[in-house]
Amino acid sequence: MIQRDGANVSLWQKTVDPYEPIHTTAPGRNFDIIIIGGGITGVSTALQLQKSGKSCLLLEAHTLCFGTTGGTTAHLNTLLDTPYADISKNFGENKAGLVADSVKEAIGLVSANISAYNISCGFEDKNAFLFARDPDQEKELEKIAEAALKAGVELDYATEIPASMAFTKAIKVRGQAKFIPTRYVHGIARAFESAGGIILQQCQVTGAKENEQVELETGMGSFTCDAVVYCTHIPPTVNLLHLRCVPYRSYAMAVTLSDEQYPADLLYDMYDPYHYYRTEIVDGQPYLIGGGYDHKTAHEENAEQSFLKLEAHLRENFNVKEVMFKWSSQFFEPADGLPYIGKLPGHSSIFTATGFGGNGMVYSSVAAIVLTNILLNRPDHYQELYSPGRIKPVAGFANFISHNADVVKQFAGKWFPHEDIETLSALSKGEGKVVKYNNQKLGIYKDEEGNLHAVNPICTHLKCEVKWNTAEKSWDCPCHGARYSPDGRVLTGPADKDLEQIAIKTLVEK
Ligand code: FES
Repeated sequence: MIQRDGANVSLWQKTVDPYEPIHTTAPGRNFDIIIIGGGITGVSTALQLQKSGKSCLLLEAHTLCFGTTGGTTAHLNTLLDTPYADISKNFGENKAGLVADSVKEAIGLVSANISAYNISCGFEDKNAFLFARDPDQEKELEKIAEAALKAGVELDYATEIPASMAFTKAIKVRGQAKFIPTRYVHGIARAFESAGGIILQQCQVTGAKENEQVELETGMGSFTCDAVVYCTHIPPTVNLLHLRCVPYRSYAMAVTLSDEQYPADLLYDMYDPYHYYRTEIVDGQPYLIGGGYDHKTAHEENAEQSFLKLEAHLRENFNVKEVMFKWSSQFFEPADGLPYIGKLPGHSSIFTATGFGGNGMVYSSVAAIVLTNILLNRPDHYQELYSPGRIKPVAGFANFISHNADVVKQFAGKWFPHEDIETLSALSKGEGKVVKYNNQKLGIYKDEEGNLHAVNPICTHLKCEVKWNTAEKSWDCPCHGARYSPDGRVLTGPADKDLEQIAIKTLVEK
């Protein structure tokens, strides 16, 4: 089983063994391009670049698929979370057509990779059914269908949907797909290595200096390259993109059904947030995968409630036999509805791809296509559309950046009495919370053995206060989505420094 950035285990984690790269150390220190992040975006991009003749190094701070790739529900859609009506309104009708073309091309790239490298990952073409359940949703559905058709998405109105849920109107969208994301990523990672690419896991990047070349500091020494691509879900340090991407958390569950009525296609209702459903067969066992109950990261006091609501919803609409897996994961919603793919604002040799919303499985391949074209100086239709440079600079941003420069260890040398913290926090095993002790805030976690751990709950990115995620047992930052393990280690950026650990001692130890 592979590891992921949360306490819950997703269906995908058990579909592959941990990835073992060919190399455990890099055979060289200088590369054309270094890709940071071993999720679907990083590996897809690395493969395209390596195949195009670039010498590439891929660095992953944990292991492949550790982040959201291991926690997606793996729908490959041209029907996107941002309706084409909104894309059309914000960017124009032509651009909505370009978006539709790009995601169609992305599904084509996934399919081509699977054929070229003979990857067994359950990939199948599917239809997607979007269905309304009341008159207001019907009106919205008609608007979505009209704009999607204009953008070139192939769809029809449907009189039936592949589930026994009541509905009043539905559309059937052709040309969608599904797959097992971890098997796909491991397959293309092998193809990348076979083409001469290098993968290093457990290699955290701790700094980047941009001169004639980019120099990266990592846990495995320094590397130089002509260009760096951050495929870390959101780029680190402080950037305008942090003001334009809002972190959200979504919940998923894989269940078995007692009546074996597993939906043959992909399904979406129209509530806000919406529910989504599909089937996956893993090693002969079919599962219904349902998802929903999205909320802004760290804006839900009891995230565990979201699982209860999702289970109740699935039981209401399907004959659920047993809940086999439940998990949640984070995604970044872009301010204007489209992802940011290209040069990182304010940099000359650093690139990124972020803000995929709930469509990371297709936008990851859009990113691979666009970034490869940019880095090979090949013009395409999509670069301007997705350029992070479409963001206008914000007044006062310079002060905002300098704000980050003074992260200090405010608890260095201090310790807190175990007895007081135990009483004050009143935690059960496996729980965490932020408490106030003598006017100082502490993030306290009690592990399964009953030991207390304390951290400074101030996020090392831009000093927001982290909150305890009851579902995934992590400290999550509500501002830009950094996440930390119970003892404060960075799980996901944009933070690149751990939370400060604070000593707790019993009075006897004193
Ligand atoms: Fe930016 Fe925490 S992630 S302040």
